[in-house]
Amino acid sequence: MPFLSEINIPSFNINDYPFNIPSFKNGVKLKLRNNVTFFVGENGSGKSTLLETVAETIGFSLRGGNKNHNLNIGSSFTGYESQLTEQTKLVWTPKRLNNGFFMRAESFFNFADYIDEIAKELNPEKFYEAYGGKSLHHQSHGESFLALFANQFEKGIYILDEPEAALSPARILSFMTIINQLEKSGRAQFLIATHSPMLLCYPGADIFSFDEDGIQSVDYEATEHYTLTKNFLNNPDAYFRFLFSNED
Ligand SMILES: Nc1ncnc2c1ncn2[C@@H]1O[C@H](COP(=O)(O)OP(=O)(O)OP(=O)(O)O)[C@@H](O)[C@H]1O
Ligand SMILES: [Mg+2]
Repeated sequence: MPFLSEINIPSFNINDYPFNIPSFKNGVKLKLRNNVTFFVGENGSGKSTLLETVAETIGFSLRGGNKNHNLNIGSSFTGYESQLTEQTKLVWTPKRLNNGFFMRAESFFNFADYIDEIAKELNPEKFYEAYGGKSLHHQSHGESFLALFANQFEKGIYILDEPEAALSPARILSFMTIINQLEKSGRAQFLIATHSPMLLCYPGADIFSFDEDGIQSVDYEATEHYTLTKNFLNNPDAYFRFLFSNED
């Protein structure tokens, strides 16, 4: 059973971002039935906007991090999403969770900086223990990302924007193992925007697809991410013959 069970935003007749995003035009009414939920859809379809809105409604820093990691200073966050946040209603079962994390792929480097700053002020060895043994800057992007997941995640809600950006295919498998352990222990809920066909195959996850008609629940086999990647990898030459057919 998920902790966050509904995301509700009314429809608006306003022709400005973020109210005019086509997938939100009839409002947003998502029922989350599982502890792992994916958002998929074309570039620009509204996934990050909705993740940011939910994260802000919960109270997470929009630069990435949890409530104790206030990375908002100097943020490029525009404040547009806040207007949507005011209208967003979240339903929690059985009660609201305050722990958790919001991470945008592009903010990961800032987060590593921040951890380094805190560690300098405290006992660095003890502090880094929680983050994989050494500064996140001294680990590769993927290593530090997994270190964070393996060490940091406790009971809470984890909102992740394209986590695959940091991970090799093998590490996507490791990441799914970590999700599975946390999910089975009933300690964690994940809300993940992704373009990764591998992640979308995670068993039993809810997948919401964003397009101009709204936001629909779909199976992973029905996503373009899955079908196009599978067909392409089965026969790349056929695609290239078609794609390059107008070249002289
Ligand atoms: N600050 C902003 N001001 C105006 N328009 C914006 C702003 N941020 C995003 N948009 C627009 O809102 C739409 C949704 O953007 P969003 O970033 O939510 O898409 P996305 O589904 O996360 O895309 P991607 O898969 O490329 O990450 C896009 O058309 C985008 O250009
Ligand atoms: Mg996005």
